[in-house]
Amino acid sequence: MGERLRIPFVVDVLRVRTPEEVLALADAAVLDRRFAPHLPLVNRLIQARMDWTMGSGSSALPSALPRDHPGRGAAQAELTARLEPAKRPWDDASLDALAEAIRGRPKRTLGELVQEAVGRLFEPQYRATPATWRAALALDAGLRSNNPLTRFTQKLTRTVPHARRTLAWAVGGDLAGVHATGIAVHTMLGAVERLADALRDRELAARLSTRAVLGRALTAPDIVVRTATMPAETPAGPVAAGTLVMLETAAATELSADPRVAFLSESWSACPAHATVPAMLAEIWWRATGERVELAPTAARAEP
Ligand code: HEM
Repeated sequence: MGERLRIPFVVDVLRVRTPEEVLALADAAVLDRRFAPHLPLVNRLIQARMDWTMGSGSSALPSALPRDHPGRGAAQAELTARLEPAKRPWDDASLDALAEAIRGRPKRTLGELVQEAVGRLFEPQYRATPATWRAALALDAGLRSNNPLTRFTQKLTRTVPHARRTLAWAVGGDLAGVHATGIAVHTMLGAVERLADALRDRELAARLSTRAVLGRALTAPDIVVRTATMPAETPAGPVAAGTLVMLETAAATELSADPRVAFLSESWSACPAHATVPAMLAEIWWRATGERVELAPTAARAEP
């Protein structure tokens, strides 16, 4: 069962962290990225914070769009197809630079190198700079900050809109590219840091197979947020219209090492990079160590 905190008119949140419940709720028909008009106060504040960072309506990043938003599923399917590992959609030079970096010879910060590798999935000439990396940090801070004073300062200085413009410019205006280089990049960085840790810990790397090293590098967003659109019984407990459901994907991935949990790859919101990311990590490891592993294709379902 999930953990529900409910105070009428103030807050209604259900936290879910077991892999089984995350998988079940990721695909539950009563949960969406759509939000009911009358939300309890805290739910409304969380929603406002997400809207401010990820946009709403026509400016929304794809990761903020409701399930049946016109064109969302088609764009998701198109990106998934474009990123198929068999097409080797990545840029070799940026993976080489990452391999050098995890071997302890970074030419630039790891964050910038990861951002460049991700950016080049969208724009072959993408060049990560201190400014694009600061923009990614600003989006991350915008999503995480609970401190009203920080939020006030962010609003006053318009850090987030400025960051979104910087990131959009670098990927030719592609909103999936903004999501990738501003938000997903932090999860990807976590995975690359785990590869670097494994390589630094020679004893561990020698004990583990390449497949196990790559499995341990699997990371996920800390939380994926959904809202219940109507009252229902779910495998994690009952929800009311407007209950915020927090799928703790990072914790559930730690417990399961299951890519279906990390990328929600069997749900309507499957990450379009669910196969590319493990393939890129395997490429980086191979370039750093000479050890190759063939990855089994991961399941995905996207709705055109
Ligand atoms: C370790 C790396 C990554 C993980 C674990 C991950 C995981 C996820 C998850 C769980 C979602 C669903 C979020 C939600 O429903 O609210 C998602 C959505 C998405 N991801 Fe990723 N992601 C990663 C990297 C990437 C990269 C590198 C890209 C782009 C190249 C990408 C593009 C997207 C997009 C565009 C969506 C929104 C899909 C839609 O609903 O239309 N992700 N990702």
